[in-house]
Amino acid sequence: MAPASHPEWVSRMVEVPPVSVTAPRQHEGLARELESGNILFLPRMPFSLSDEDRAFLLAQKQTDAGYHKNIAYRPAEDRLTGTGKMPARDAARLKSILKAYSEWAARFLTERIAEYAGRWVRDFASYRPIEEKGREARLTARNDLAHVDAFPTRPTHGDRILRVFANINPAKGRVWVTSETFEGLAERFARQVGIPKAGSGGKVFGKMAKALGIRQWSRSPYDAFMLRFHDFLKENSEFQRNCIKQQWEFPPGSCWICYTDMVSHAVLSGQFALEQTFLISRHAMTLPEKSPIRILERICGHALSN
Ligand SMILES: [Fe+2]
Repeated sequence: MAPASHPEWVSRMVEVPPVSVTAPRQHEGLARELESGNILFLPRMPFSLSDEDRAFLLAQKQTDAGYHKNIAYRPAEDRLTGTGKMPARDAARLKSILKAYSEWAARFLTERIAEYAGRWVRDFASYRPIEEKGREARLTARNDLAHVDAFPTRPTHGDRILRVFANINPAKGRVWVTSETFEGLAERFARQVGIPKAGSGGKVFGKMAKALGIRQWSRSPYDAFMLRFHDFLKENSEFQRNCIKQQWEFPPGSCWICYTDMVSHAVLSGQFALEQTFLISRHAMTLPEKSPIRILERICGHALSN
C-alpha cells in the first residue's frame, strides 16, 4: 500500500454525538470536518424506521429494474423511479418511506450544520437493496472500485455532492474502503486526465443554456473533468491495486455523511442502505479552498465554471 502524499489527504471518521440540551453547541465544526474530507459517523440512526417498514424494505427485491443501480425518490417531483414492476401499493409505501428519510435528512442538516441551511438543493434519495459484494456492473458503474462521485445527468457547476447514508441491515455492516481525498488525487492525476482549457466548449453552451433557463442541463468544464476523473480512477488498475486503502465498517443501524466528490470511496459489501444526496452551494463552504473546483482551478490557473 502506497503512503498518502500528504497526511491531511486521508479521511478520518468523526463521531457525531446526539444532540444534547446541556451542550447545544457541540456540533459546531461539523462543516469543517466534512470539507476536510472526513466522514461524520452516527452509531445509532436518528431516523426512526418502524419495525414494519424495515421488514417491508428488507423484503424488496429489485428484479425488474436491472439497469438502475438504485430505487430513487425525486423530491422536486415527489416521484419514485427504479421500481420496475412493483405492485402500485408497494411502490406507494416505498415512496412514503423514502420521502420520510429524505425529509429527515434535510431536517438533520438544517439543525446540525447551520452553515449550510437553505443553501442546498435536495437531490435524489435512494434505496439500495442489492448485495454489493460480487454485484455485476460495467466497469465504470462498479461500486467496488475507488472513485469520487460525478453525475452525468446533473452537473453541479462546482456545487458539492454531500450524501447521508443509513445502513438498515439488521445483521450486517456495510464495508467501505477510502483512499486519498480529491486534493491528493488531483495533484497526482489531474494533468494525466487532461485539465480543461479556459473558454472550452462547456462555457459557451453554458451561457446559451443559462439564457434559456436550463443551467442544470449544461455541463461546465468542471463537470466534464469530474466525469472523466471518475472513469479514469475506475479504469486505472494500477491505482486500484496500489492506492492507499482504509477500510471502514458501518454497523447495522448506523448513519454516515460525507462529501463523495472528495472522499474517494469503494463499497466492498453490504445490502439494504438508504441514502440522500444534497448539492450544497459552493459558496456555502467554510473551507472554500478545499473544494474540488477550487483545487482544480488552482492547478489549471483559470475558472472552470460561470
Ligand atoms: Fe460513489
